[in-house]
Amino acid sequence: MHVPGHGGGGGIPSHLPLLFKELAKYDLTELAGLDDLHNPSGVIRDAQELAAAAFAAEESYFLVNGASSGVMAMLLAVCGPGDKVLVPRNAHSSVYHGLIFSGAEPWYLPVAEDGGFPLNVTVDAVSEGFRCCPGAKALIVTSPSYYGVCADIKEIEKVVRRNNAILLLDEAHGAHFGFSDKLPPAGLSADLRVQSWHKTLGALTPGAVLHRQGGQIDSFRLRAALRSVQTSSPSYPLLLSLDAARKQMALQGRELWDSVCCMAETLRDSLKGVIPLLEREAVRDKGFDLDITRLTLLTGTAGINGITASGLIREAGVDTELAYVDHVLAILGMGFSALELEKVTSAFKQLKGLDGGEAVVFPAVPAAEPVLSLRQAWFSPSRNVSLRDAVGEVSATFVVPYPPGIPVLAVGERVSEKAADYLEAAVTGGIELRGLDSYGRLRICI
Ligand SMILES: Cc1ncc(COP(=O)(O)O)c(C=O)c1O
Repeated sequence: MHVPGHGGGGGIPSHLPLLFKELAKYDLTELAGLDDLHNPSGVIRDAQELAAAAFAAEESYFLVNGASSGVMAMLLAVCGPGDKVLVPRNAHSSVYHGLIFSGAEPWYLPVAEDGGFPLNVTVDAVSEGFRCCPGAKALIVTSPSYYGVCADIKEIEKVVRRNNAILLLDEAHGAHFGFSDKLPPAGLSADLRVQSWHKTLGALTPGAVLHRQGGQIDSFRLRAALRSVQTSSPSYPLLLSLDAARKQMALQGRELWDSVCCMAETLRDSLKGVIPLLEREAVRDKGFDLDITRLTLLTGTAGINGITASGLIREAGVDTELAYVDHVLAILGMGFSALELEKVTSAFKQLKGLDGGEAVVFPAVPAAEPVLSLRQAWFSPSRNVSLRDAVGEVSATFVVPYPPGIPVLAVGERVSEKAADYLEAAVTGGIELRGLDSYGRLRICI
């Protein structure tokens, strides 16, 4: 006599596939013996301890609201109103939301580029950030980036320590690091780091994990922060999948990821001369590293529009992760089999037949011009206007191409002519934007 209302399957709508009825047997609540994610003292505590051991952390916390909740909790645990946080401008939207909740203010760091393509934040940019913003409480780095480009976390950590700050790491796309020597190293030295286990490991969406390291973080406040950004009714199937993903990694992680890396190498080799890729050597030359299981097809360099290219690849039966005007991102994971290699290779090889004209370039993301604090703008009265009418006004919303979920325009930023041009080009180019209304209008502060 307890929730959930489907009562272990009996109340599941009958038009749902039978599988849902089966799954409902596992969809339980905090019954005797099932522990409580928000106050774990039994099986969930044990599972989290095993996760910490497998991922070389001091403490690990299962997240049932995605890495987004972990990112927000990190910021809430560490910062308060008025604190400054160094934030490279390639941060995921959850970073901005965490700043709004906590009242902390971002100090933006530039993201290095290669021919307009975003790489990551450099050690020098971090040093310069601390010089210009002395007393910054924390730095939050996204590494790897969506494209698998990794910042030099070891060196960055030294700079953070010299400045008595906290290192927060959004490692959403790097949960598999540490399970193959062919992958970049995991960011073990961060005080807190968040991994989306549903992105690169076998957990159900949106299962994720937050790891703590060292004595800089107040665990009590961290737990309170986690309670504040997560549902009070955690999904047990999701928790089960996190524990199972941990076991899979602990027992077979190396074997599985060595194999994925070998397939990635084979695919990369077979695409030589077909389409330019973002290459590890090129990225290393710039002081970064690359996850080779992320294949960024630099279609624009070959004169091919990325959205056209991904459409062609899809017609050949292969869905890719992301398509932009000048590139396509394809991800290899544990679900990928050697049998699929041939199909994928021939799908990609069609691109060679395309008539590559002049390089397709997408305008660089316009420089941010913050005018109001994130919180001031978030709580400001606002109205919708056309993109053109918004030029010169202050944005009351985030406009975010999804994926990758990095805001082009943040709350509190002046809408420049360039930003309006960029967003119009994105809409025309078929890029999915979150943040405009259904008429393509932008919300501005009044
Ligand atoms: C860099 C980065 N951080 C955080 C997130 C949020 O992850 P989740 O979807 O697990 O909430 C994403 C999602 O795309 C991301 O790309």
